[in-house]
Amino acid sequence: MNSLLTMNELQVREINEILKDAHSFAEGRQWAPGKKLFVANLFFEPSTRTKSSFEVAERRLGLDVIHFDAETSSVQKGETLYDTAKTLQSIGVGALVIRHEQDRYFDELKGKLNIPVINAGDGCGNHPTQSLLDLLTIQQEFGSLRRLKIAIIGDIRHSRVARSNADALSRLGAEVVFSGPKEWMDFSLESGSYENIDSAIKTADVVMLLRIQHERHSGDSSAPDGDYLSSFGMTKERERSMKPKAIIMHPAPVNRGMEIDSELVECDRSRIFKQMENGVFVRMAVLKRAFEKAEGGNIYEAHNQK
Ligand code: CP
Repeated sequence: MNSLLTMNELQVREINEILKDAHSFAEGRQWAPGKKLFVANLFFEPSTRTKSSFEVAERRLGLDVIHFDAETSSVQKGETLYDTAKTLQSIGVGALVIRHEQDRYFDELKGKLNIPVINAGDGCGNHPTQSLLDLLTIQQEFGSLRRLKIAIIGDIRHSRVARSNADALSRLGAEVVFSGPKEWMDFSLESGSYENIDSAIKTADVVMLLRIQHERHSGDSSAPDGDYLSSFGMTKERERSMKPKAIIMHPAPVNRGMEIDSELVECDRSRIFKQMENGVFVRMAVLKRAFEKAEGGNIYEAHNQK
């Protein structure tokens, strides 16, 4: 099938193929399907980056984007996600991009649709296109992921970004370490070990800060006591302790002054806005892959132009 639901389902070879396509889109490559294709973006949770960059990617590929607003759709009358997806398939939509607050919402769609679903984030579960754009950003910086040390810091437990990245980074040869408040660690993650924040930041090639996921916190996972920035954030002092060529990443939106000192968001080491730029190229590559595989890869005209 041609969907992209989790990073775990991609073999290393497939990750590298997507990244190669994304690199070429970043360099100006053009590609368009040879027939009219519709795509719908179903966002049941707020989004700025993912939703907008999917839409830019879709338009750059010449796809027709169907407007869908969960607040004014028949979801408000109780229509299920499956019935919504099946309806859009029935009226001719060729692929669905879905963000949903429920972990693994896609399990109820598996095997029931004959169009690809691209996961734009499920609850605390997965965010595969964020992971791919993070990998692209690190590759652009260092050439390869192999033997790099990546420190993922913050609200690990509620982060679909941490979950998607830890597995993929490890399989691509990087060393992953986690750091942050003990209330928010996730000891069920198989990839990566735990390290004190100051030593992790001093020794990492990439410091990946995570947003505090306030909307996913319940009584058992409330914020740790004290000043989060000084205990677990990227302060100016910690930034000065980093290796000379090390970079700072964050999936955003950023809670300025909490995960990172506001003045560091756009500092020389920060790749936060580069990550957003790369989101468009990765999503173009993922959509291309979805449509090529959906149609057996033989009815589209690929235009390779620089
Ligand atoms: N990084 C990310 O997923 O941002 P949005 O929630 O704005 O899409």
